Amino acid sequence: MVALNVRSEDITLSGRLTLQHRKISEETTAIRCLDWDRDRFDIEFGLRNGTTYNSFLIEGEKTALIDTSHRKFEQLYLDHIKGLIDLKTLDYLIVSHTEPDHSGLIKDLLNLAPQMTIVGSKVALQFLDNMVHQPFKSLMVKSGDRLELGNGHLLEFVSAPNLHWPDTIFTYDHKTRILYTCDVFGMHYCDDYLYDEEKELLEADFKYYYDCLMGPNARSVLAALKRIETLEIQTIATGHGPLLHHEIPQWVNCYRQWSQEQAKTDNLVVVFYSEGYSYSEEIARNVAQGLLKTDVTVDLVDLSTTDAHEVRELVHQAKGLALGMPSQYDTNAQLMVNTILAAAHPKQVIGLFESGGGEDEPIYPLRNKFKEIGLTEAFPPILLKTVLSVTLEKMAEEAGTDLGQWLTRDRSIKSMKSLDSSLDRALGRISSGLYLITTQKGEVSGAMLASWVIQASLEPMGVAIAVAKDRAIESLMHPGDQFVLNVLEEGNSQGLIKHFLKRFPPGCDRFAGIKTYQATNGSPILADALVYLECTVTSRTECSDHWIIYSTVQTGRVSKVEGLTAVHHRKVGNHY
Ligand code: FEO
Repeated sequence: MVALNVRSEDITLSGRLTLQHRKISEETTAIRCLDWDRDRFDIEFGLRNGTTYNSFLIEGEKTALIDTSHRKFEQLYLDHIKGLIDLKTLDYLIVSHTEPDHSGLIKDLLNLAPQMTIVGSKVALQFLDNMVHQPFKSLMVKSGDRLELGNGHLLEFVSAPNLHWPDTIFTYDHKTRILYTCDVFGMHYCDDYLYDEEKELLEADFKYYYDCLMGPNARSVLAALKRIETLEIQTIATGHGPLLHHEIPQWVNCYRQWSQEQAKTDNLVVVFYSEGYSYSEEIARNVAQGLLKTDVTVDLVDLSTTDAHEVRELVHQAKGLALGMPSQYDTNAQLMVNTILAAAHPKQVIGLFESGGGEDEPIYPLRNKFKEIGLTEAFPPILLKTVLSVTLEKMAEEAGTDLGQWLTRDRSIKSMKSLDSSLDRALGRISSGLYLITTQKGEVSGAMLASWVIQASLEPMGVAIAVAKDRAIESLMHPGDQFVLNVLEEGNSQGLIKHFLKRFPPGCDRFAGIKTYQATNGSPILADALVYLECTVTSRTECSDHWIIYSTVQTGRVSKVEGLTAVHHRKVGNHY
């Protein structure tokens, strides 16, 4: 056995980007790209201690690379790999999930090693098709599947969906007893130490990372922990931060405890789908995405492979249900639908969807049965007749948000009432203008009445807008997205405000009956607005229950020079 933590070369790229490689076990090397100064991780959270992107090489009779690295390490990483192996002989690239910080160099690698087979979950391989736009050899794996590399390296895969991407898998090497988990058990912590040498130094970052990335999927964390509980693990090879080696039971126990607490206290919504049946899983994930914008816990459950006991337990605990119609020919799924019906109770809310397989269990008779039991319908049935469109994906996401908002509405109203203190009255004196954000992205359009808008920079001209996390338009306002900021006019805003404050059903055309014309960036300009500004999102910052979205302004026009901006005066500061 090779001694752990053997030092080898550290290579500096420039400034604070470095690469470290270490042999971590027999025929196994860790290649860690150290990003010392990264201070923000996309939209997720601010970093305090940089991060690392960890990749691993296993050289049995066949060779396998587990994950790649972030694009910023392109040359250093690829040159380094080329120095370790002849890429023409690389047999497998195992993709733990397809987020760009680990998969950013797959296309480059594919060009250097076109013979390699990419191993991943079904969803990961679908995502990759859209990422690399070129043919590649692939091997789809699910929980329990094994891959023999020779020299005793028998790899076993474990599905870990939603941790924190839908396509996540773990890989366990039976020879070295290393479990490769990518994001899971990771932390954004950049240090020369390869392993968890000093637990006390790492605990805060480990918890912070869990809260940001894993907490929203606490039930999926518990499901994944259950799948790995029989494995004898010597090292957890994570995708970020140090590898876990010295304190594995304690680290795993932290995940278990935190997830159990989270799963116990939150509103649970179970989304049932049928894996492999038409677009069932894709729609379920969009519904889940919408739900996660609200303060609920989500559990995605495959009807085809779950037993009646588990389904019954989940339905008993759940406050909300979303159910994708299974195929009429899937006997286990049929049985589970009956189990759901038998366990459902009148205080629950439900939403149903079809996935367009042509053999779906009929949706309306089932809908009637749930209504007879007394369940409240959170959104009208989502019906897919042909292929999944972006519009339908968005509709499913909005439906999920509606369901979540229904479950959390009492809590929101209560907190508004309970906070009517002098502080809130004081905060309420912060006044603002009134605006309508309008956007069109492909087939999908969005609109939102906004008041928390302010100019935020002069060169380039930029604005900052606070958007609540559960707003449908939020998913259309990521870096690179474009929109129009319509400034409403004093004395001429009530019609637009009334229209856009309505509750729109998922997928509804928000612009029906409203006069618009098209901006250069494709978004609708409201003909009755005082001003329009065409904007491009540059960055987003998470700020508690809102995203602060900073955008640059490309062009704009005032329709009436003497017009004044509508002003929004509030009584209290705990709501808009
Ligand atoms: Fe570290 Fe989900 O990427």
